[in-house]
Amino acid sequence: MARATRICVTAPASIGNVAAGFDVLGLALQPQTAAIWRDRVTVTRGERDDLHITGRFAGAVPATAADNLCMIAATLVRAQLGLPNTALRVELDKGLPAGSGLGSSSASAVAAAVATCELLDPGRPRSERIAQVLDIAGQTEAHATGAGHLDNVAPCLLGGLQLLTPLGPRPLPWPRGLQLVVASPDFAVATRDARAVLPKQVELHTAVEHAGNLGALVLALHAGEVPLIAATLRDLLAEPYRAALGPGFAQAKAGALAAGALGCSLSGAGPAVFAVCPEHAATAVAAALRDGFANQGHAADVQICAVAELGALDRVERHERG
Ligand code: HSE
Repeated sequence: MARATRICVTAPASIGNVAAGFDVLGLALQPQTAAIWRDRVTVTRGERDDLHITGRFAGAVPATAADNLCMIAATLVRAQLGLPNTALRVELDKGLPAGSGLGSSSASAVAAAVATCELLDPGRPRSERIAQVLDIAGQTEAHATGAGHLDNVAPCLLGGLQLLTPLGPRPLPWPRGLQLVVASPDFAVATRDARAVLPKQVELHTAVEHAGNLGALVLALHAGEVPLIAATLRDLLAEPYRAALGPGFAQAKAGALAAGALGCSLSGAGPAVFAVCPEHAATAVAAALRDGFANQGHAADVQICAVAELGALDRVERHERG
């Protein structure tokens, strides 16, 4: 079989933390409106390194190779493979807003890492490819945010709802009939800033309650026990400190819960907000989230979403020439 000369990878948006799982629980998003909230990266060999950025949010990401996450990921892959002098043309179609809490940096890093690996190192077994990309994308995220949190990277790469365990990511089930409603307001919060407001230590009773919530949420997801999902979709570690970073969050959350959401919290580091609700409540919850931000003077892009089954690893297009 001929080697592909051009690899194109699409990486989905994702929600980090998922309320009860700070830094360890994330899910990939499939908005009902197709072809939004995703990054696409195309990598080919070139005469020299070349970076081209297009797309709705092209203006919000660094265009210099040294600071661009796609180029950083590609360079890390080259170094890992012992191919530092292989010149690459990297094209980023930036469909995710940066600093939104929708896993924008993870999507760029994962898409570029997968595309570069598939171009320069094709045919690796799936388990090895997953370990390779988690490592590279985590290092790339660390460049952007100061630490490599994999709760966006893992679902972005693998799809689904992913729990980070000591033995790597493990998928969790998502009960049928539950929908996600996600609001992305028209302002950004840098993850680095959102981490800076977090306490270094928490009280013992908070740690105990948090552990209980996460354990019970995992149980509830497996059992499809909706009331227990509603009781445990709570973030005791980050949301109390980050809520003030995003005007409109408190109003949006209160409105979503009143409109029938089971739970509502910040998506990753925010300012995007997600709510979980039964299908019949999704339209009302979407309106409530939009109104919550509007009442504070901010427009929000609100999308009703499913959990995306496929991550970037299974959204690879291989072209033999051109
Ligand atoms: N778990 C991370 C956080 C997600 O909340 O800071 C953003 O990288």
